[in-house]
Amino acid sequence: MRPVEIKKDIFWVGAVDWNSRNFHGYSLSPQGTTYNAFLVKDQQTVLIDTVKHDFRGQFFCALSKALDGRGLDCLVVNHLEPDHAGCLAEVVERFKPKRIFVSPMGEKSLAAHFHPQGWPIEVAPSGTKVSVGRRTLTFVEIRMLHWPDNMLTYIPEDAIAFTSDAFGQNWATSERFADEVDRSTLTRLMAEYYANIVLPYSPVVLKTLDALAGMNLDLDMVCPDHGLIWRGRDEVAFALGKYREFAQQKPKNKAVIVYDTMWRSTEKMALAAAEGLVAEGVGVRVMSLKHNHHSAVMSEVFDAAAVLVGSPTHNNGILPLVADMLTYMKGLRPQGKIGAAFGSFGWSGECVKILAEWLKDIGMELVEPQVKVKHVPDHAAFQQCFDLGRAVGQAVKKKISG
Ligand SMILES: Cc1cc2nc3c(=O)[nH]c(=O)nc-3n(C[C@H](O)[C@H](O)[C@H](O)COP(=O)(O)O)c2cc1C
Ligand SMILES: [Fe+2]
Ligand SMILES: [Fe+2]
Repeated sequence: MRPVEIKKDIFWVGAVDWNSRNFHGYSLSPQGTTYNAFLVKDQQTVLIDTVKHDFRGQFFCALSKALDGRGLDCLVVNHLEPDHAGCLAEVVERFKPKRIFVSPMGEKSLAAHFHPQGWPIEVAPSGTKVSVGRRTLTFVEIRMLHWPDNMLTYIPEDAIAFTSDAFGQNWATSERFADEVDRSTLTRLMAEYYANIVLPYSPVVLKTLDALAGMNLDLDMVCPDHGLIWRGRDEVAFALGKYREFAQQKPKNKAVIVYDTMWRSTEKMALAAAEGLVAEGVGVRVMSLKHNHHSAVMSEVFDAAAVLVGSPTHNNGILPLVADMLTYMKGLRPQGKIGAAFGSFGWSGECVKILAEWLKDIGMELVEPQVKVKHVPDHAAFQQCFDLGRAVGQAVKKKISG
């Protein structure tokens, strides 16, 4: 890859992963991703982060071109996850940087990942300033956004911040700046990234945004480690504003019905519940787990006010894809949702009780009664499902108006 100069003497030296489809092996990335790394050329040279190891070729090519014969003085490790630290050991070996900066938690994470011997590691607690010539590197811990080690690096002289995973999106593009691509796609991909990776840390996001506002940082460019770079004060305000909005988890007039089915009775119930929601004027996404990956469902659940989960009873339990979905959803800790459970059964019929327990455990407010139908629904059963949809719809309207 060729380096891209994003500000005078500051270069993007990352890699584009056009073929990524399953980011980190659990979340879909249908449009690929990028691993961004940056080189600052001042009196000293500074590399901020690296890329996933599979992309070492693209990365070292861009880095060598950007260095243009100079050595590497400093290495900043904003985040130790292997999609950013994948080439760290090789950078240390090949370029022998004189100083390696990590956050206090990063020091522990670096030790656990690389077991380094004799590396020139310097722990940089929040607020540490390091002059590299005309510029000053300023480190700010963003602990648990989304790993304990995360920090951001700010350079006041350029009003630029390198924010590791925060404000990123999974999108492989030839463009490097957010203002060069389609805004609605960008915003959707940013929200999908947030819903599947950052969501559990929403309270940390709000605290971090408040802390950044309190620091009055002059910010003209924000460089995440994935996707497009936010250039200009309006773009920076947009990105920070979106994160505040995402973290607040204000629900929309929308419900997600997610289910699996063997013989389609539970599916019929899902469609009847959808009709009830529509009758109340609530937007509905009907998502079969055979046709929708759990991360695609989560991207819809993220801004929905209600989640209706359906499963038939299967071997005294629920179907495995539904258990997978609930496990995934619980880990991402969505806040303030309305929940409802439904399903078909043959004899013992444990399904709805199990689903309701899960939803309560996730912290959802349950709309009762759960609807349980023996084998194939008849007219009365469809009416019950329709009524469940209506009851959830009414609860949604109350929630979004309150
Ligand atoms: C392999 C298998 C295991 C099942 N286990 C149970 C069970 O333990 N308890 C129960 O009430 N029904 C059980 N059933 C019956 C289903 O819950 C019933 O057929 C239901 O109507 C299927 O709904 P669906 O059309 O949405 O798949 C089982 C069905 C199958 C095929
Ligand atoms: Fe990460
Ligand atoms: Fe990442």
